Amino acid sequence: MQRIYILIFLLCCKNLQAQDYKKILIPYPQACSFNGARFPVNEGFTISVRGEPDKRIYSAATRMLTRLKGRSGLFISQQEVVPGAGTPGSGLLIRVTRAANNVLGEDESYHLVITVDGIMLNAETDLGAIRGLETILQLLKAGNGYYYLPGCVIDDAPRFPWRGLLIDVGRHFMPVDVIKRNIDGMAAVKMNVLHLHLTEDQGFRIECKAFPKLHELGSEGEYYSQDQIRDLLHYAGERGIRIVPEFDMPGHTTSWFVGYPELASAPGPYHVEHRLGVMDPVMDPTRESTYTFIDSFLGEMSKLFPDEYIHIGGDENNGRQWKRNPAIQLFMQVHAIHSNNELQAYFNRRLLAITEKYGKKMIGWDEIMQPGIPTSAIIQSWRGMEGLARAAKSGYPVILSSGYYIDLNFPASDHYLTDPLPDSLHLTTAQRKLILGGEATMWSEMVTWETIDSRIWPRTAAIAERLWSDASVNSVPDMYDKLERISPQLEELGLTHEKNVDMFLRRLAGNENVAALRVFTDVLEPIKDYGSIDYAGYTTGSPFTKIVDAVRPDAKVAREFNILVRNFAADSKDAVSEKKIRQWLIQWKHNHLALRSAFRQYPAIDDVEMLSRDLSVISVSGLEALDYIRLKKHPPLLWRSRVEKELQQASIPRGMTEIMVVAGIRKLVERAEGYF
Ligand code: ACM
Repeated sequence: MQRIYILIFLLCCKNLQAQDYKKILIPYPQACSFNGARFPVNEGFTISVRGEPDKRIYSAATRMLTRLKGRSGLFISQQEVVPGAGTPGSGLLIRVTRAANNVLGEDESYHLVITVDGIMLNAETDLGAIRGLETILQLLKAGNGYYYLPGCVIDDAPRFPWRGLLIDVGRHFMPVDVIKRNIDGMAAVKMNVLHLHLTEDQGFRIECKAFPKLHELGSEGEYYSQDQIRDLLHYAGERGIRIVPEFDMPGHTTSWFVGYPELASAPGPYHVEHRLGVMDPVMDPTRESTYTFIDSFLGEMSKLFPDEYIHIGGDENNGRQWKRNPAIQLFMQVHAIHSNNELQAYFNRRLLAITEKYGKKMIGWDEIMQPGIPTSAIIQSWRGMEGLARAAKSGYPVILSSGYYIDLNFPASDHYLTDPLPDSLHLTTAQRKLILGGEATMWSEMVTWETIDSRIWPRTAAIAERLWSDASVNSVPDMYDKLERISPQLEELGLTHEKNVDMFLRRLAGNENVAALRVFTDVLEPIKDYGSIDYAGYTTGSPFTKIVDAVRPDAKVAREFNILVRNFAADSKDAVSEKKIRQWLIQWKHNHLALRSAFRQYPAIDDVEMLSRDLSVISVSGLEALDYIRLKKHPPLLWRSRVEKELQQASIPRGMTEIMVVAGIRKLVERAEGYF
């Protein structure tokens, strides 16, 4: 009998452990079991490589060793992983069968076994081994005064072959360092495609030898030289990440026309655009010279970027310049082209022929899916799941971005629960295969090199898990636990998403004394959806250094407060939640007083002063609501109408920023009102 109890106890421990690790690995592996063993990591830890890899596994393993040292503080004596180095048995043994090609669908699987005797990482390709190295780093734990890797068996491979991040370097240029640290972040969560949106109305960001006025006149001096691109390609390739370039055409092209106005559908002169939104300038698709130009341009870019895929944009052409141009209208008549959509389809067919001539597969946004566009084109779906389904049902390979617009500041949970292959699409097996994966899109209207990390991370790790892990891995609380754990690990790579919050607050306050400001900003978030894409007078030259830029989506304190309220509303005897709720409300009630002088002294933050006052006001009401609930007393009618007004007032965004605990406090108020 006793034995049975011991067995049950051991099984429970194992189960608990498995639960525990579910909250650690992101993306969570396809198959994973833990056995309670520990491999201690100490200064004698070594890494050795066997098999037929190419040389990038050595640099990847050396980087992993450096990160292991950095995280553990251990002076591990091995300095470099080179052929023949390391002692299998004293650490990690990597076995790789062959070098991978950096192409879509390449084998990224790996098999990891950790026992008390050592760590074995086996992979068909070095790409798989690189993914496995990230898993090992995420597994590192400390306990009883030492570091160890937990005993486990992991079999892993991605669910989707296309797991991307788009970075828009057009609206706001991002220096090479920024791109590199984000490539590192992507690799840490096993993403494999960096989509560089290189050209926009607001900037032409790449050196072009054939048409140098593109970058010279179209970029205000902010562009990547071709040497820098080659360096980035190498950097990304070392980490198993492909770079897909986008040259957005025929719209979003003002910056091209600064140097080459003859490409446009209306006479110039043109200037680099500073406003945000959808602009009129569009290429003239009726002139042969346009295609001669694009042919040379894409020829040069096809050589520079080795990837099989090239993105030609195709989105948001409002067609105004086409409508106003008599020559274009005549061309449409002569060629029986009846609409702007048909004209753009004609343009895209011409582009498809050019890209195919250079051995590339052409990707375009939803809008390129027009009759006559062959299914050799790939659709990137951004306007909704219907577009994704329509593309797959029409036979196009498709990449999902709708639902992954991280620039819009929605919570990670929204992105996490957007599955590229929901059953509701009713796709056949063949159609399901056409869904290549997805891409988080980091449009840069409202971010600069200083703030972009805070919009990308850690939320993009949730999208990375959605694209790598099984669809059944979908617990939102676990996801938030994992984001919290991965976030400081991402900081090890130089990403600034956490540390820049305090940096901005210090800058705004002009001193180190930011405690009260932090209490306030911890419950703020930037508005979602830019208030439905009204950029509120912003241009690319606006300051992106205000409170809205310091605060981040998914305000943790607010989320936790709202969860406490939910628990308490369900069970008003929950004294622990009540106590914590009360503590928060008291702090917010008094915080405005602490901040009031700051608002006078630092006008840069005065756009959110009302929010600080409103937070204090609704916190008082929240405390009153708690009292009514505790005393089981019915709140008077006057109180209800006063509080409703306060809550409405506190719901109004200020300085592009909103208070995220209004919902929680409202719930308390409703609970108080509904007591009897
Ligand atoms: C897009 O967001 N215009 C692709």
